[in-house]
Amino acid sequence: MRITESFNGNWLFRHGFQADQVSTLQDGETVTLPHSAVELPYNYFDETDYQKPFTYQKVLDWRADFEGREVSIVFDAAMADSVVYLNGQEIIAHKDGYTPFEARLTPHLVKGRNVITVKIDGSENPEIPPFGGQIDYLCYAGIYRDVWLKVASPVAIANVKIETPDALAEKKSVTARVFLANPQSLAVSGTIEAKISRKGGAEIAAASFSVSGNEASLGFSDLAGIELWDISNPALYEMTLTLKTAAGEDAVTQRFGFRTAQFTPDGFLLNGKPLKLRGLNRHQAWPHTGYAMGRRAQEKDADILKYDLACNIVRTSHYPQSKWFLDRCDEIGLLCFEEIPGWQHIGGESWQQESIANVRRMIERDWNHPSIIIWGVRINESQDNHAFYAETNRLARELDSTRQTGGVRFITNSELLEDVYTMNDFILGQEEMPGNNRGRVVLRDRVETTGITKPIPYMITEYNGHMYPTKRFDQEQRQAEHVTRHLLILNAVAGNSDISGSTGWCMFDYNTHKDFGSGDRVCYHGVLDMYRIPKFAAYAYASQGDPADKVVMQPVTFWARGERNIGGVLPLIILTNCDYVEVKFGEWAPKRVYPDRENYPHLPHPPVVLDLRSVTPEEFGTWGRVWREGTFTGYVDGKPVTTMVLPADPVPTTLEVVADDTALRAGEKDAVRVVVRVLDQCGNLLPYFEEPVSLALSGPGRIIGPVDHTLKGGATGFWIEAGDELGKLELTASTRRLPPQSVTLTVS
Ligand code: GAL
Repeated sequence: MRITESFNGNWLFRHGFQADQVSTLQDGETVTLPHSAVELPYNYFDETDYQKPFTYQKVLDWRADFEGREVSIVFDAAMADSVVYLNGQEIIAHKDGYTPFEARLTPHLVKGRNVITVKIDGSENPEIPPFGGQIDYLCYAGIYRDVWLKVASPVAIANVKIETPDALAEKKSVTARVFLANPQSLAVSGTIEAKISRKGGAEIAAASFSVSGNEASLGFSDLAGIELWDISNPALYEMTLTLKTAAGEDAVTQRFGFRTAQFTPDGFLLNGKPLKLRGLNRHQAWPHTGYAMGRRAQEKDADILKYDLACNIVRTSHYPQSKWFLDRCDEIGLLCFEEIPGWQHIGGESWQQESIANVRRMIERDWNHPSIIIWGVRINESQDNHAFYAETNRLARELDSTRQTGGVRFITNSELLEDVYTMNDFILGQEEMPGNNRGRVVLRDRVETTGITKPIPYMITEYNGHMYPTKRFDQEQRQAEHVTRHLLILNAVAGNSDISGSTGWCMFDYNTHKDFGSGDRVCYHGVLDMYRIPKFAAYAYASQGDPADKVVMQPVTFWARGERNIGGVLPLIILTNCDYVEVKFGEWAPKRVYPDRENYPHLPHPPVVLDLRSVTPEEFGTWGRVWREGTFTGYVDGKPVTTMVLPADPVPTTLEVVADDTALRAGEKDAVRVVVRVLDQCGNLLPYFEEPVSLALSGPGRIIGPVDHTLKGGATGFWIEAGDELGKLELTASTRRLPPQSVTLTVS
């Protein structure tokens, strides 16, 4: 049977590449993948530091189980322009930095020591998408995803496309196209035993099919008792295929789900039922390690989107992302808009051919993910290009007729070659532009942006972002405006039946090129910061979730007399999914305030807004008078479900250190996030506490990035990475004024 093992350990890494050194092992730093060629500082760095070639080498000793089998190495991705050599011989080159490639070792393996050399090149080669123009994100160099050693039969299963043609019928069917790898061009004749089961559960159906040639089709029908994959019940199934030919046996298990997904002129339908898409764009980036983060960190981002931000969709802006992330989307029921690499720039003919190949690689890698509901087959925000985009669309439809295509643009009246017009609408904020006399417009009308009068499926794929960059520690008035802009668009989208939904720009702040961001190589466009710590705007999303899943109540204030211009905290937005909130100012009688349906009639959960509609300025005191404690109590079904006390005199009381998980896995650079916050006597973040924090870690692991942090807006974050050994990791965080705090993690 097939062997697939991690091939991440024991690589020798060095800066530079020399063609005459590919056949012998050179000195280098021993590293484990996923690996970032250069770990950058948090901000204020030079991104050209990694824009050069690097070399990775590893020894593979011959093993008895290689005999008579196909041996290869599968790279989940490497950035970029990879060339793989075996014992000095070039065996594969792969330009794209976001899709997998398989280096077939078999013909060149020797029965002894084999030297594998991988050249990667972080230069922004203008022949490779997304490069050639400016880009508002970084493409960090390195073999930044997992690598696997694969040992399989000479005739093996290369890929499977599973479809569920009548998913909504009572009795369902499944079809599969099975593509075989047969590099030795052997005559193929044999059988495929196929089995369908509930993921990790009981078998539902099994049958045997004959195969001759390098492709086979099979199917099941009349399947009863199948559950649909849905965002609230992401039921997954598995198809296990066992191929038996004269060359040997091979088996793969592929996950899938039964669901339909359709963008219509009247909105999006999941399993035939309307669902307003509400989500955010996500880059696959972290401080210091860039793209190089493994399974846990990838999964955590999906969990944050689904459970903390109550999103039902993510856009993988602007490239195919980690399979760990997409697998997690399948598991938790988070829909996904996936797109090819690119940013505004379209290169020449060979660049376009590479981009078309990216469409194929993306779809062939990901076509079985039930979470993916649309393929983005345009270069994000590029100009029209008929021949190029006619081909990306044609290919996408040929490869996968079950999903619609989209293509994200910011230009208006663009040629619609896709099934869904997907539009970045940055009109909100343009009222600030000189000469603009339209006033404040939240979203443009579909006909205005598309120039198409007949009804068409339409989705908003970006808004806000650079129109209103906001830091987690910005003055609260700015943050209130940031919150308001997200709410206004969510409300407009929710109220517009011909908009399928929206994905805002963006999930978290990200490092970027010098031409973008705040001069420190950060775009502060997230509703979370780079550590995934929420800004107030995060609660604009979180509060749209059902209180039965999670009660949310977040006043958009640091609660101080003199933080805002002129003073006080009115108008005060309280982001909540409670039915109403009672607000008490010192010893004054509580005021009951209801959601603001007047200004946000379409939101599932409009914010509660405390303003002069419900209180007089006198009731909240004016400048020069005593400032008082604020108490907020949220009610659902007439019962108090959450309370927050914001003291009038906050003092640093607790250094809080929280790790997302405390059980880590050895041997896979398993990385867990830790958030450090300084809290007041009532447990609230002190938004301007900026003193240094020192971190110390003992045991088999390391702190990614520096061990000395300054708090930014009362908080900081980092990731702890487990090593290869088992044991306990003890983390201690210390500040000058508060007792140190420790967290123990287990690596097993
Ligand atoms: C868009 C672009 C994003 C990001 C965003 C900032 O134009 O697609 O990648 O740059 O602007 O608001």
